[in-house]
Amino acid sequence: MIKIIQTKDYAELSRKAANIIAAQVILNSRSVLGLATGSSPLGLYAELIKMYQAGDLDFSKIRTVNLDEYRGLTSDNDQSYAYFMRENLFNHINIDLDNTNVPDGTEPDAEKECARYDAVIDSMGGVDIQLLGIGLTGHIGFNEPAEVFSKGTNCVDLDPKTIQSNARFFASIDDVPKQAYTMGIQSIMKAKKILLIANGEGKADILYRACCGPITPKVPASILQLHPDVIVVADEPALRVIREKCPSSLG
Ligand code: F6R
Repeated sequence: MIKIIQTKDYAELSRKAANIIAAQVILNSRSVLGLATGSSPLGLYAELIKMYQAGDLDFSKIRTVNLDEYRGLTSDNDQSYAYFMRENLFNHINIDLDNTNVPDGTEPDAEKECARYDAVIDSMGGVDIQLLGIGLTGHIGFNEPAEVFSKGTNCVDLDPKTIQSNARFFASIDDVPKQAYTMGIQSIMKAKKILLIANGEGKADILYRACCGPITPKVPASILQLHPDVIVVADEPALRVIREKCPSSLG
């Protein structure tokens, strides 16, 4: 079931989504958080840092597992997702870096890395809350449109639309890695709770297809309709098409 929370803008989205993660951390100080990168969670991470600085959150026993990493980038590359997480969250809170996990982009043996990461996820005993953004292709993690839903961690060829969209973070489009390791759809679906955030008009059509369209691996995020506990926090522009075509889902 998808519960949609509407916010007027990105700042409100970030505060509300951060409050949901914060509640999880407060209720269970040993929670396993599934984390995402990209531009969507930047405000949410900034809010969590503020709550930590105010003395309201303790991450000392929290464990994290990130969705994905570009294949080929070292963790000290400033475009890697490992670097992103340190820069935008981990370095600013009292989390033990040994309790944080990101796929190893430098492992050339894809089969080995996917099996290792699946074992890491399993060893944590389940993700309590999984944070997701949504790509313009409907990807979650880097699970791009496909013929079937992926299961465990897999090595994907990034969709040309994703490469184009992520080029904004790189010096040129040629610098964007063409492959990534990503947690699989089945692993994402095993999380006890899922929090998907989306902002901006650019996400309006794909968010509608994910929340209200047919459930198909051509729109990987559409599988979330089958999860028992999904919260979507989205701002007004991102909800435009949902408001027009399936307002009943807004409650
Ligand atoms: C990032 C990830 C991706 C992004 C998605 C949206 O770890 O898994 O699925 O959430 O590409 O990216 P932004 O937030 O930059 O629009």
